[in-house]
Amino acid sequence: MSAAYLNGEYKPLDECQVSVLDRGFIFGDAVYELIPFYLKKAFRLEAHLARLKRSLAEIRINNPQTDEQWQAIIERLISQHDEANGYVYIQVSRGVARRDHAFPKDTAATVFAMWGAWPALIDGALDKGLSVVTVDDIRWNRCDVKSTSLLANVLMKQKALESDAHEAIMIREGKVLEGSATNTFVVHQGTVFTAAKDNLILPGITRDVVVELINTLALPFVEQAASLQQLQEADEVWLTSSTKECLAITEVDGQPVANGQPGPLWHQVYAAFQSQK
Ligand code: PDD
Repeated sequence: MSAAYLNGEYKPLDECQVSVLDRGFIFGDAVYELIPFYLKKAFRLEAHLARLKRSLAEIRINNPQTDEQWQAIIERLISQHDEANGYVYIQVSRGVARRDHAFPKDTAATVFAMWGAWPALIDGALDKGLSVVTVDDIRWNRCDVKSTSLLANVLMKQKALESDAHEAIMIREGKVLEGSATNTFVVHQGTVFTAAKDNLILPGITRDVVVELINTLALPFVEQAASLQQLQEADEVWLTSSTKECLAITEVDGQPVANGQPGPLWHQVYAAFQSQK
């Protein structure tokens, strides 16, 4: 059983219990982080903790732990398993209170963290790439907050799976924003595009790593959302996330991307990413 932490106590995941009145359960009034670790070391920990702090501040929950305390929780969960690679999931809700939309007074946040096994790589992901469908972005206007209110993302991901695709890419006003749980990169006529970090996307930590690698490799790059048409005419498409790293997308809405194979720029970025871990 996975190791977990709940409100100051370390215990097995199946012994963790939260009240049904927890506002995370009742309202999705909570934020989260997912921090990968490689060779027992949390990857880009500072960036993940900075994003957690920002998400908490944006929804006005006081950060219940210092960075040192978060780090201690994460390291202890990592140390309780033999696996070298995996992730730690953290969630902070506004706590337990009588159901009322307004913030409760003097309620302590619920602080939860759990160890997670590294997900198995999707069959053929590296040789053949993944397939995606495009969907309308039906989310709210604060996609930059890493909130557990993920109903729209859940529905879009399910739509992708039911269309025999691996991921859904969200389009808003003709612009390619991001996937249901991943950021999106589009290579069009040799230039790499990815949406700028504003309120319409989650500022992915893996996205930032890939942007750094693109700059190191001196690839032509603009921090701007590609259009749907550019996606349909793309040379290459990639997705990024903490659990998928950087993978090539070789099919969009049933049509092959270029020749339908992971492209040369993806190979360069993927190799560079592996050497970062
Ligand atoms: N998802 N965009 C969305 C909507 C996401 O949910 C995620 C991460 C990302 C990529 O962010 P990062 O590179 O920091 O993981 C982009 C996580 C992995 C999840 O919900 O499981």
